[in-house]
Amino acid sequence: MGSRHPDSATVFVSFGSRFDKTPWFVAQRRLVALVSPEGPPHSAAMSDGASRPVVVWLVLAAAMVFIMAVIGAITRLTESGLSMVEWRPLIGALPPLSEADWQRLFAEYRATPEFRKLNAWMQLDDFKTIFWWEYIHRLWGRLIGLVFALPLAWFWWRDRLPSWLKPWLLLALALGGLQGIVGWWMVASGLVDAPHVSHYRLAAHLGLAVLVYGLLLALAERLVPAPLLPASRGLRRMSASLIAFAFVVILSGALVAGLDAGLVYDTFPLMGGQWIPDEVRLADDVGTFLSTPAAVQFLHRWLAKLLALGIFVFWGMARRESLAPAQRIPLDVLAAMAAVQVGLGILTLLFHVPVSLATAHQAGALILFGLLVWCAGRLRRL
Ligand code: HEM
Repeated sequence: MGSRHPDSATVFVSFGSRFDKTPWFVAQRRLVALVSPEGPPHSAAMSDGASRPVVVWLVLAAAMVFIMAVIGAITRLTESGLSMVEWRPLIGALPPLSEADWQRLFAEYRATPEFRKLNAWMQLDDFKTIFWWEYIHRLWGRLIGLVFALPLAWFWWRDRLPSWLKPWLLLALALGGLQGIVGWWMVASGLVDAPHVSHYRLAAHLGLAVLVYGLLLALAERLVPAPLLPASRGLRRMSASLIAFAFVVILSGALVAGLDAGLVYDTFPLMGGQWIPDEVRLADDVGTFLSTPAAVQFLHRWLAKLLALGIFVFWGMARRESLAPAQRIPLDVLAAMAAVQVGLGILTLLFHVPVSLATAHQAGALILFGLLVWCAGRLRRL
């Protein structure tokens, strides 16, 4: 099994002339590659010893993390997240099976500040509804763990993994395990006096999910063969910066969600008739700023708009370079997605954060982040 780093194996490395980059030449190379018995000569994937099942597995795991984030958004938006008072990571997979189980869980919930201060009107049936969302969220988390760990052990045992990939897979596994703990750490913050989870912990939970998802997609991208053309240094640097910046925007979005800050101003582009609302001026230190709903909404709006602008500039720069379709297509989709995501954010705000739009907005954030990761991979140094 080879252990070469994929960079060294990837695609269309040495083109001397401008002719090499013409669409005709690229198409011709792809055709030759397709019909050649060895498959694409520039394929990082197969020459590195990884196989198609490994790619399918990584993409499946990333898709499951994406679905997890969507379920997580619904759990939060339906205010279901604090309905399960216990954390039993190994034995807690079974749902309540008898009336006695339900009564016991409902009694535990009735002792929480959320029930006492906000949901004292709830009957057992109301409790069951919020319980199921949190239950599905946790069950899905366990399923991701299995879908990731079992094939990992199998591929490892069958020697199907290139050696460069192994530490990254172990890192993904460790981050996934950590996510379960961070999830509980977040829930625990809402089971004491105040019936709300800490918005910082919510941001840590979402941030970690985004990291795992981005890592899985980045690894899958490395293994999917495609003819690529060299991108300029500026473009490569910009793609890396945009990933980091998008991560910050996502964290700021989680702060908005965690403080229910989407409800404080429901106008766009002004906030209560002002470009800079008074709350922003009054928050004179970072801690106060990040705990003031209006200030956090202000921060998220402007960071998000800056990100979208950055993506459009990046896309415009990329259009001036000669790139292969496998690079150009995700870049075009990325630019379109940036516009869609800003639109979803604005609609979420204008319509007072309905579950449907806010969930779509959270899903959009992950799609945008995934596209950025994919584009950065496709523009890597050849
Ligand atoms: C590139 C653009 C954007 C990205 C990547 C992004 C990302 C996010 C993320 C990850 C969340 C957290 C969702 C959750 O935890 O449930 C969020 C929440 C939110 N965002 Fe954005 N956002 C963007 C643009 C915008 C814009 C332009 C606006 C409005 C002007 C906006 C308004 C909101 C609101 C109101 C929430 C809170 C929704 C809730 O409570 O669930 N976003 N955003």
